[in-house]
Amino acid sequence: MNFGKRQALEQRGNQLTLHFEKQDVILTILKDDIIRVLVPYWMKDYESKAIEGENAVPADFTVEETADAVIVKTSRLSLHIHDEFYMEAYDDKGHLLMSDYQGERLKKAELDQKAADLLEAEGHDSSKLNGGDYAVQTLKALAPEDCFYGLGDKSGFLNKRHYEYENWNSDLPQAHNEDFHALYKSIPFLICLRKDCVYGLFFDNTFHSYINLGKESDEYFYYGADDGNLDYYILGGETMAEVIGNYTYLTGRTPLPQLWTLGYQQSRWGYTSAKDIMEVADKYRELQIPCDVIHLDIDYMDHFKVFTWDEENYEKKGQLFDKMKALGYKPVTIIDPGTKKEDGYFMYEEGVAKDYFAKDAEGNIYVNEVWPGESVFPDFGRKEVRDWWADHHKELLDMGVQGIWDDMNEPASFRGELPMDVAFHDEDRETTHAEIHNVYGHNMSRATFAGIQKHTGKRPFVITRACYAGSQKYTTVWTGDNQSLWSHMQMLVPQLCNLGMSGFAFCGTDVGGFGADCTPELLCRWVEAACFSPLFRNHSCQGSKRQEPWQFGKDVVDINRKYIELRYRFLPYIYDLFYQGQESGLPVMRPLVLHYADDPEVRDLNGEFLVGEQILVAPVLEQGATRKMVYLPEGVWYDFWTGEKLQGRQYLLREAPIDVCPIYIKAGSIIPTYDVCQYVGEKDYTTLHLLTTPGKAEYVHFQDNGTDYAYEEGQYNLYQFTQDEAGNIKTEMLHENYPGYQDIQVETIGK
Ligand code: NOJ
Repeated sequence: MNFGKRQALEQRGNQLTLHFEKQDVILTILKDDIIRVLVPYWMKDYESKAIEGENAVPADFTVEETADAVIVKTSRLSLHIHDEFYMEAYDDKGHLLMSDYQGERLKKAELDQKAADLLEAEGHDSSKLNGGDYAVQTLKALAPEDCFYGLGDKSGFLNKRHYEYENWNSDLPQAHNEDFHALYKSIPFLICLRKDCVYGLFFDNTFHSYINLGKESDEYFYYGADDGNLDYYILGGETMAEVIGNYTYLTGRTPLPQLWTLGYQQSRWGYTSAKDIMEVADKYRELQIPCDVIHLDIDYMDHFKVFTWDEENYEKKGQLFDKMKALGYKPVTIIDPGTKKEDGYFMYEEGVAKDYFAKDAEGNIYVNEVWPGESVFPDFGRKEVRDWWADHHKELLDMGVQGIWDDMNEPASFRGELPMDVAFHDEDRETTHAEIHNVYGHNMSRATFAGIQKHTGKRPFVITRACYAGSQKYTTVWTGDNQSLWSHMQMLVPQLCNLGMSGFAFCGTDVGGFGADCTPELLCRWVEAACFSPLFRNHSCQGSKRQEPWQFGKDVVDINRKYIELRYRFLPYIYDLFYQGQESGLPVMRPLVLHYADDPEVRDLNGEFLVGEQILVAPVLEQGATRKMVYLPEGVWYDFWTGEKLQGRQYLLREAPIDVCPIYIKAGSIIPTYDVCQYVGEKDYTTLHLLTTPGKAEYVHFQDNGTDYAYEEGQYNLYQFTQDEAGNIKTEMLHENYPGYQDIQVETIGK
């Protein structure tokens, strides 16, 4: 991209326009450590889908012009901008954060036609092999130590250095491995951890985009997009936590969920009748394995028509939900965007009459195929369409549905992808699939969130497969169609940690794996690894081996019960992490590098994670393994099972037979826990247990009704617990306006 020489500079409030010979660049100082960089190739006043409302906080800054550069300086960041729009960003200590790479991209050796033909003949895609510049592109210099995190649900390992990815929401049936470029979500947020500093980049562009983190070259990393603006944010921060705080300040934070949504959940595509569902519901209670939610996949609909009900197999509307409710279950139903094209079907007829469906280039309603056969696609970019969709949830919610699972919203389609020129809207503006694709799931889940909030007054529980940056304000996510493979179970650690650092505090995998057949050992290890994952749902595909714990015998039932019970014990701690996350933007599940970035051992650590700052989980992720090599970071840690005191900054080999998942608690911890119950709401939580480890500690615990917004009106308790060196605990009420616990008991590990 050729900018030419810098010519003039204009300043208006917090905005600076730099005129180069060939292109203008607009810098906006949003905060002393957030600067937006906009090269408006496409649209100067583009309204972000990820960022809502006014975000600027007045920040002092200076602008200095030297012969060589314009220097823009806040108290936290400074940018040096040269001719050709080459820019460097420094932090307040003078560390170089980011610098534009001044060379050209490397060109791969061209394959001759004969070689390409041979590759194609064996089924390889030779088109991927030769790179090329993108319409929108920026190259940044790389240093050997640079590590990258974030990027949402991308497959592979924790550190994204040396990999390349695409942002194009994709539903691909092959087993997701580290070579996958794109999965279901597009979250172009990157945390760049350098040798002695850290910063973030958020590229806000919804067109098909590309990120290459040193796979093409050791000298640079790049971001490219097929269209739109070059529109990115430089996010400063002293620590990774601060960078995440800034990113979620911009794009929004995961709201506090209802408490029961943190309970265990069972699902399967292929529960073909109400009887099937109730058998599962009864079995959990009979075996005394706690469970809060049973999901109804597309099987409950009449011929897969959204917002309909199959009364033949699923009983009279509402009846099943009454039975589920009597056992304490909260039903969640799936909803797909693809709406059956069928005369006489109310959703289709209403949508046609109101002109709510996407159109082809000739102006006819665009038709593709999904589960119900020929289907049409709501144009969710328009508010009136979202409102219409939101209101259609009312009937399900009135019947007792407690949450909605939005699926197939990439949007997935069986007769090939929607053509790029299919007409959609961004509010009133006409646009096409090329721009809307990556925010289709975002807009759908936003509508669903609004519908649940409006018709229940409770905190909405929405789970979506596809989304964009910022969707965390509306929805929980799961990682889509994984398989019952050890490699997919291993991937849950980096995948959920990166999703969490990308704003999605509430995320999970299909426990046991969606496709293929699970094995007893795999299910046990998966439940152990996932019992601290925010969304804890066992789900599987029709035609695969049934995956409820009892399908694998008594030992597997016992191990599932052990870890699901553990989850129910730790519910208040997980809930507190969500409460704190509303302020900090930090996730529940965290890679060690988030809190120990200076420790080189953890920058690539894929097999362990932290829950908050106080619990370290080191699950066994390999078939047949009965020992785990655990790395403990700095400090003193206590083995949760044995109470053994251990020094950090060391590797240890922990015995881990099939029923043991190594768990450690940091010294100086206070962790709130509850008595196990079979589901949230079974009984009142009258006793709070504090699990402590020796050492001075402080902890703030939040308690409210766990369902609605009364806490925003002040109906909650906030307890501050303090522990001194001798282990004495003091309780202070920071806020008291909710029926409190009758009893608080302390149990110390490692005493
Ligand atoms: C695809 C989803 O990823 C999966 O979870 C679901 O079971 C099927 N669609 C059927 O609805």
